[in-house]
Amino acid sequence: MEIKEKSLEYAPGLEGVVACRTRICQIDGQAGKLYYAGYPIEDLAQNSTFEEVCFLLWNQRLPRHDELENLEKIFRENRSLPQEVIAFLELAPHTAHPMDALRTIASLLSCFDINLEKSPEANLQRAIFLTARFPTIVATFHRLRQNQKPVLPHPSLGFAANFLYMLFGKEPTPNQAKVMDAALILHADHEMNASTFASLVTASTLSDIYSAVASGIGALKGPLHGGANEAVLKMLMEIADPANVESYVDQALTKKVKIMGFGHRIYKNYDPRARIFKEYARRLSERTKFSRFFKINEKLEEVMQAKKGQHGIFPNVDLYSGIVYHQLGIPADLFTPIFAIARVSGWTAHILEYWQENRLFRPNALYEGPAPRAYVSMGQR
Ligand code: ACO
Repeated sequence: MEIKEKSLEYAPGLEGVVACRTRICQIDGQAGKLYYAGYPIEDLAQNSTFEEVCFLLWNQRLPRHDELENLEKIFRENRSLPQEVIAFLELAPHTAHPMDALRTIASLLSCFDINLEKSPEANLQRAIFLTARFPTIVATFHRLRQNQKPVLPHPSLGFAANFLYMLFGKEPTPNQAKVMDAALILHADHEMNASTFASLVTASTLSDIYSAVASGIGALKGPLHGGANEAVLKMLMEIADPANVESYVDQALTKKVKIMGFGHRIYKNYDPRARIFKEYARRLSERTKFSRFFKINEKLEEVMQAKKGQHGIFPNVDLYSGIVYHQLGIPADLFTPIFAIARVSGWTAHILEYWQENRLFRPNALYEGPAPRAYVSMGQR
């Protein structure tokens, strides 16, 4: 039988390549619109909760009242970590980046999963348990590295409020809880981004969901992706004053250094999530001494609009999220772990969906090396 070669086209960074079909998330990059299963992100951020959005991503429909109550209950009942995991976090170097701790524990949790069942139902349950535990992992590691006792999960607080409670050891105000809840909603999913794709590549080998999620965490960490929120805060500290923005941008662009929090592979317009974060950042900044960062960001927007706006480079989700977290008193190296706390819902939703019609990811590479040649023995090189 003759097997015909398909014509192959090289797409650097897989730009413009459609890797799978999905019913979970849609982006209109030209218009700057984002939808989860058809619902605009603005509506969800304002009216929904992170728990409800998790249900939406996993089921592609909003839950009924009893279904939401049930998911909230399962989340609350599964927030605790096995003692051995806490012991591991105690022993791990407390100088480690919290993303490294999170990636390691996500992987370690697979060793405690004695259920061999691989059905969609069992994998959805694993997705729920992982999502329930991510805030506890991050908060526990953060408390331990500060020589503080971990705070046990609160038996009745909602997802976002409980995370802040475990982090700081006191209940957040309703406003703080709402801001964190909205932040989790805004980060829950984003179609075929690098970390979701990394998760799917691992999942497509029919490996397990823990391995796939660990792949996602690793990809999210990089500053071109989720790590940009931490990098934005570093940049704001370096700029220090709105008066320094113009020269900072000029120098960076001359050296071809990217300005963190700007640009996106898909959005060629203002990222809708950045708009919502900006509003939260504005409201929080009005009341505190950190408003300097907000003013630097506004100036950055103005300068970048003038220099790069015509190239489709606009603020992305990471430009203002860091200011919001900073206002909540959260240290910069927890910004990307917070992204992961939210995104594990999206990763697992895509993994579960992809497994319904799984096909191994196996692209090609364009070979540019030497033509076939004879081995040269050591003495003749
Ligand atoms: N600052 C300055 N110039 C930029 C920026 C930026 N932030 N982003 C893109 N450009 C320029 C590039 O230098 C390039 O210019 P050139 O054609 O003259 O060489 C052009 O715009 C196209 O850029 P690419 O790097 O090809 O765009 P790509 O789609 O590969 O990159 C990315 C997207 C990685 C997000 C990029 O915009 C970037 O590095 N941004 C800064 C990091 C960041 O904020 N990442 C978070 C993204 S959102 C998220 O993942 C959650």
